[in-house]
Amino acid sequence: MVCFRLSPVPGSGLLLLCLLLGAVSSYALELNLQDSKNATCLYAKWQMNFTISYETTSKSNKTVTISDPSSATYNGSICGDHQNGSKIEVQFGSGFSWTAKFTKDVSTYLIESISFSYNTNDSTTFPDAKKKEIFTVHEPVALKIPLDEIFRCNSILTLGMKDVVQHYWAVHVQAFVQNGTVSTKEFLCNEDKTSTTVVPITPTTLPSPTPTTTPAQKEKPEIGSYSVNNTNGTCLMASMGLQLNVTQDKVVTVININPNTTDFTGSCHSQTALLRLNSSNINYLDFVFAVKNENRFYLKEVNVSMYLVNGSVFSTANNNLSYWDAPLGSSYMCNKEQTISVSGAFQINTFYLRVQPFNVKEGKYSTAEECSVDSDLNFLIPVAVGVALGFLIIVVFISYMIGRRKSRTGYQSV
Ligand SMILES: *[C@@H]1O[C@H](CO)[C@@H](O)[C@H](O)[C@H]1NC(C)=O
Ligand SMILES: *[C@@H]1O[C@H](CO)[C@@H](O)[C@H](O)[C@H]1NC(C)=O
Ligand SMILES: *[C@@H]1O[C@H](CO)[C@@H](O)[C@H](O)[C@H]1NC(C)=O
Ligand SMILES: *[C@@H]1O[C@H](CO)[C@@H](O)[C@H](O)[C@H]1NC(C)=O
Ligand SMILES: *[C@@H]1O[C@H](CO)[C@@H](O)[C@H](O)[C@H]1NC(C)=O
Ligand SMILES: *[C@@H]1O[C@H](CO)[C@@H](O)[C@H](O)[C@H]1NC(C)=O
Ligand SMILES: *[C@@H]1O[C@H](CO)[C@@H](O)[C@H](O)[C@H]1NC(C)=O
Ligand SMILES: *[C@@H]1O[C@H](CO)[C@@H](O)[C@H](O)[C@H]1NC(C)=O
Ligand SMILES: *[C@@H]1O[C@H](CO)[C@@H](O)[C@H](O)[C@H]1NC(C)=O
Ligand SMILES: *[C@@H]1O[C@H](CO)[C@@H](O)[C@H](O)[C@H]1NC(C)=O
Ligand SMILES: *[C@@H]1O[C@H](CO)[C@@H](O)[C@H](O)[C@H]1NC(C)=O
Ligand SMILES: *[C@@H]1O[C@H](CO)[C@@H](O)[C@H](O)[C@H]1NC(C)=O
Repeated sequence: MVCFRLSPVPGSGLLLLCLLLGAVSSYALELNLQDSKNATCLYAKWQMNFTISYETTSKSNKTVTISDPSSATYNGSICGDHQNGSKIEVQFGSGFSWTAKFTKDVSTYLIESISFSYNTNDSTTFPDAKKKEIFTVHEPVALKIPLDEIFRCNSILTLGMKDVVQHYWAVHVQAFVQNGTVSTKEFLCNEDKTSTTVVPITPTTLPSPTPTTTPAQKEKPEIGSYSVNNTNGTCLMASMGLQLNVTQDKVVTVININPNTTDFTGSCHSQTALLRLNSSNINYLDFVFAVKNENRFYLKEVNVSMYLVNGSVFSTANNNLSYWDAPLGSSYMCNKEQTISVSGAFQINTFYLRVQPFNVKEGKYSTAEECSVDSDLNFLIPVAVGVALGFLIIVVFISYMIGRRKSRTGYQSV
């Protein structure tokens, strides 16, 4: 999907025109299912496509690919319990439905099976189909995951062989979520683990972890310039120095991102934009921007997955952020150090930040909205405390002097 903004027509505001260009991108499906107490019981985010072959009236076989299951509904998805299990049901397009079933035992949960149904009655998707009926394929999965761990698979998983080939990637799923909080502990698929061993973990290129005992005397990160293009040139720009701060098992690791060895990609849509960085140590560091109230943008989401010095994978995500807020058509700028708290264990320090995720014209930043107000107020707090303390000392001192004089006059009168 590619969107173009047309010049404002007098009186009609801005007009957004979106064209669907096949195979440009796939959309992630996302479900955050809640139980009767509004606590999250199942979380899933994934991408998928299906290649279906069917017999035509002319006795040949045709193949179609179903990707981009946009405008999906999730009717019938349930949290489940010990007896019934959990279920994701997705309906999309012209009569497609997809179901994943989960069951649970004491310490694990199971992705039991996946079913997919399609209706060859739909002659636009399945032209000249010989049989016009609903077909259902059922694939056993039987994947066991520890309770309170989120299953992750960025690699491509393939199910089915004959008439329907199913591809899944960028999968994050956790059923039977404990206490309403999606886990940050990942259970990787074997395919992702293999890529862990393929990616060389070279501790020499990583700054050594900052010992917790000595204060971090870390130099500032270098400023990197990142941009994303669509068919019409540059659509997202950012320049900033980035410092990642990971706390795991009480060990703080501070990593400066070196722009020279960091790759970037992304995508631009009318309501969201993505900037993704990666390097030998960082699988992905995603900045997701969104539009709010049709007139402002902000940083809504950060997702990260990276290798730490000890070779373990650290990952976390937060899609409920609110940073870098500025009017659409302008850029956001902050030269001071700013901290983005993604989770208790992960924060990003930014330096000399300038970012424009929407409405970039001719590859140049528009006028900037600066971050001053907040930090100036924060700067005033210690000043106010200092003034109050000073005042208190003076009051105490004066009281003391008065008291002393009184007692002295007391002595003299004796
Ligand atoms: C692409 O950008 C140029 C320059 O801003 C503009 O003139 C043109 O209309 C844009 N094309 C589309 C299809 O929006
Ligand atoms: C759950 O959320 C809905 C809508 O936000 C609200 O109407 C309902 O009262 C909530 N229920 C509980 C048990 O908090
Ligand atoms: C389906 O998804 C797989 C995995 O991402 C990709 O390799 C393939 O090209 C996709 N097929 C189509 C037709 O988009
Ligand atoms: C079409 O596919 C069916 C089932 O996959 C197969 O039995 C049949 O031989 C194929 N027909 C042709 C013409 O390839
Ligand atoms: C799903 O539920 C919504 C309302 O909750 C309804 O409008 C929609 O028609 C349902 N879709 C299907 C495929 O049943
Ligand atoms: C579980 O299934 C039984 C029988 O099918 C049904 O009566 C019960 O309501 C279900 N429980 C839940 C929580 O859906
Ligand atoms: C196929 O579509 C026709 C008309 O749209 C409808 O009458 C018929 O019931 C459909 N058949 C199936 C199997 O969905
Ligand atoms: C969930 O809460 C219970 C009781 O508050 C606690 O014992 C348990 O450890 C919690 N589980 C997780 C995974 O946080
Ligand atoms: C993006 O587009 C600009 C100008 O349109 C071009 O100079 C630049 O090389 C492009 N970048 C990439 C990564 O394609
Ligand atoms: C890193 O995070 C820890 C814990 O939140 C904090 O104490 C420390 O000051 C941070 N260091 C930097 C350089 O941001
Ligand atoms: C990045 O490259 C520039 C120019 O090639 C160089 O001056 C700089 O030292 C490099 N930075 C790092 C951290 O390697
Ligand atoms: C970033 O990811 C791409 C595609 O996954 C990969 O080809 C590239 O080598 C990665 N960049 C670095 C610096 O590791």
